Parts: sequence; structure tokens; C-alpha cells
Amino acid sequence: MEKSPGFRVAILGAAGAVGQPLAMLMKKNPLVSVLHLYDVSNTYGVTADLGHMDTGAVVIGFIGEEQLEVALTGMELIIILAGAPRNPEMSKDEILKNNVRILESLCDAIAKHCPKAIVNMISNPVNSTVPIAAEIFKKAGTYDPKRLFGVTMLDVVRANTFVAEARRLDPRKVNVPVIGGHAGATILPLLSQVQPPCSFTPEETEYLTNRIRNGKTEVVQAKAGAGSATLSMAYAAEKFAEACLRGLRGDAGIVECAFVASQVTELPFFASKVRLGCSGAEEVYQLGPLSEYERIGLEKAKKELAVSIEQGISILNS
Ligand code: LMR
Repeated sequence: MEKSPGFRVAILGAAGAVGQPLAMLMKKNPLVSVLHLYDVSNTYGVTADLGHMDTGAVVIGFIGEEQLEVALTGMELIIILAGAPRNPEMSKDEILKNNVRILESLCDAIAKHCPKAIVNMISNPVNSTVPIAAEIFKKAGTYDPKRLFGVTMLDVVRANTFVAEARRLDPRKVNVPVIGGHAGATILPLLSQVQPPCSFTPEETEYLTNRIRNGKTEVVQAKAGAGSATLSMAYAAEKFAEACLRGLRGDAGIVECAFVASQVTELPFFASKVRLGCSGAEEVYQLGPLSEYERIGLEKAKKELAVSIEQGISILNS
């Protein structure tokens, strides 16, 4: 059989509620030639199911830590969704404590078996899990800040959708930069920089900013005990993964917001626009001119973000 040209991608946490729809979207993506699905259970079922899709990517399932080495070897992009079971009421802190040990074992394995891969971190809370992964890679001697991304794309797709609704635009043609991080007040949409240019009253700005920040709660409440965002999360994860793969392929002008190692503010990690290329994050852009409302939001976001970054590292070390 002719093998489709493309990239080798692994999803860690592939049998979960975000993992399964993400795996389906990646299996459908023409930039993917090999798709490894790793989890602690049920990946063979998901693999058999997706394996019947008549798309180019070859999908292979792996279960349990003893198969992690084979799952990771040769991979060019790793998407980490893995986490301990949780309910939607859990705070970001509780989620973090449960997830740190899982992340430690996955990141150690990545450092050993595919140290040059791009890593897209989705496991929450991203504001802390990215600094944690960076520390683990530093200890292993493989850290490359250009190759580690916290995926904040869900905030961007929500912002695009809500702004499009407010202005009766096609959401596919709207681009809202969302900076800061991926939790509460750290999520700062730059409504003054929307493309195509739109202007908003102070009330509209307040309403849209809050709706974007509270997107998670909106879904949790609508699902009424049945979980948090999974389908839109999978969509956003695939959208960002595709941007990374297009960057790796050498496409020009791929710019997306992501939470990365940054010198744009005094914080070591910050989400802003990033140019994606063959080596990962090739350029992290400055924030550009901010409105007064955004400047105030930025100060608040930075304070909260500093705590989350610090907290991640101290839980890892404790
Ligand atoms: C969201 O923003 O909705 C997600 O991060 C949900 C979650 O907690 O996984």
C-alpha cells in the first residue's frame, strides 16, 4: 500500500472524552501519516473503530506504561491530554495535584524516546502543566522552549465564535488574539485587535470578555453534571496541531496564539501570538497596542498567572 506523506503523531490519553474525538479528527487530517493512540485502557477498541475510516493515516493503539516507549519512538508531534479521572466541580488546583505524577511519567518518557518532538500540552491546568513539563524536560537535559506549547486554542475559537455572533460575521473569517493563559482572569481576549476590525462599546467588551473567560462554565452548566468541554476542546486541539504540522512542513505565515516560554512580559510563560515553523515556535510576538480595559486586564492576568506557574513547579518539587 502506498504510504501517505505526512507526520507521525501520538495522542497520550487517546481513549478519554477529548481523546476519542481528537483521534478521529487527526485520523481524518491529511497531514498525518501515522497516528499512535496511547492510554491506560480501551485504546484497542478506539483504534479498531477509527481504523475503518478510509483516510490515509495508519492508526495503532498502545495500552499501559510498558508500551509507552514504542508509542513514542519516532513521533514528531505529541499531544498530551492524559489526566486522572475528575468531575467538573473539581478546582484547577485539585486537578493539578492529581495530574502531576501522570505528567511526570509521560514527560520523562518523551525525554527518553522522542526528545525532539513538538509537545502540545492540553492536560489542565495548562498554566501550571506547561511549566511542570518544562522543568521535567530541563532535568532530563532535553528542554527546547520552542517545542513545548500550552494549547489555548479553545479560548481563541470561543472568542472567534462569540465575536462573529455579536457582529453577524462568518466565524471562520474572524480572528481574535487571546493572550495570557487558559483559566479565568488569565484569559485575556484582545478585542481591540480583532480581525476584521470591529469596534465594541464598553458594555459589549465587558460582556464578550466575560463570556470568553467563562466558556468552560457555560459548557459545564449546560452538560449538568456530565462533564466539561470535550468536542470543542478536541476541535481546538486539532486546529492547533494542524497549525504545528503546517509549520513543520515549512508553510509560511502560520501564526496562532499559544502559551509558551516568553519574554513578552516579566513572566517565564505567557500566551500570545506565535509564528510556527520547522523548529516549533520560531517567533513570539509582542502584544501590540492595548486598550485601557486590556491594560488593566493584563495586570490582573499576570498576577494570577504568576501564582499558577509557581504553584505547578512547587507541587512538582514537593
Ligand atoms: C475548557 O476551557 O472548557 C477546558 O479547559 C475544559 C476542561 O476543564 O478540560
